Amino acid sequence: MNVSAAESLRTALGELLDGLPPRQATQAVDRLIANYRGATPTDAPILRDRADVAAYAAYRMPATFEAVRSALEAFADAVPEWTPASHVDVGGGTGAATWAVSATWEGPRPVTVLDWAEPALALGREIAAAHPALDGARWQRARIGASLTLDPTDLVTVSYVLNELAAPDRAALVDAAAAAAQAVVIVEPGTPDGYARLIEARDRLIAAGFRVAAPCPHSAACPIVPGADWCHFSARVSRSSLHRQVKGGSLPYEDEKFSYVAAARFPVSPAPARVVRRPQIRKGQVLLDLCEPEERLTRTTVTKKHGELYKAARDADWGDVWPPVP
Ligand SMILES: C[S@@+](CC[C@H](N)C(=O)[O-])C[C@H]1O[C@@H](n2cnc3c(N)ncnc32)[C@H](O)[C@@H]1O
Repeated sequence: MNVSAAESLRTALGELLDGLPPRQATQAVDRLIANYRGATPTDAPILRDRADVAAYAAYRMPATFEAVRSALEAFADAVPEWTPASHVDVGGGTGAATWAVSATWEGPRPVTVLDWAEPALALGREIAAAHPALDGARWQRARIGASLTLDPTDLVTVSYVLNELAAPDRAALVDAAAAAAQAVVIVEPGTPDGYARLIEARDRLIAAGFRVAAPCPHSAACPIVPGADWCHFSARVSRSSLHRQVKGGSLPYEDEKFSYVAAARFPVSPAPARVVRRPQIRKGQVLLDLCEPEERLTRTTVTKKHGELYKAARDADWGDVWPPVP
């Protein structure tokens, strides 16, 4: 992992917050939360002005950055020889995914961020100036809809966007990404609805000829029974002072739950199996819930008798490849 992207982002967001009166920032976050709880999709941008966007960036960007970075790391493990030579972030807003891509694969590379909210693009451009790999990025206005076409690129990211779109626009976005890119990574909130939108997108990517690289160990149907459960993961995020201001509480971190799919047109080496829940550590044994090839969900018990594997199981985390790669 390239730590400098994460650190530069944190510094840039900290400076942004320094320039915002605390009351104004808290009010803008409250308004955004209310908007996001309301009836989306909307037919006009939610991020309307600089206060909205600064609040969004300071409040949400660290979490979306960590979620996308986790998804990209799992993807990078499945395509170890590959580095994207170009990147388009659709519905990119203030550009969290561009920072995550540059934290995963050192840049620079041509980067384009597309969004319909001009204030988000403007602020994204401003904070990206702090990061050499991103200061040449293009920030362009574009509306996601039936007429969306994307220029050919190695990687398209779509993070926390599908939930703002009506079904026809979600389909148009995934189809445009599949037509333009060698690899597509989509991240959504780790909720039952977020997972349902991801499965819809995953099916479209597979129908367009893509293979799933992560998190699934296969490109067959997801074995989860719709409505019974949902596939999601967790990324730890340090809380900013704005977080503590808005949410209260004293924990220095929170866990961002997300669902994702990473797929490519080229050959991929998916995990042999993936840990799909937090491992349960009992006396002398670890219970691992695994998603395995052939559309199987299983629970494996690893005990002291398994020696090195037991040690590995004690270190295993939700979302990890199993068994661990040496
Ligand atoms: C929740 S934000 C996510 C931003 C960014 N991708 C991230 O992960 O932080 C959703 C973004 O999608 C954009 N968006 C929503 N509907 C859109 C549309 N129809 N056309 C273009 N952008 C859209 C919004 O303006 C916003 O920037």
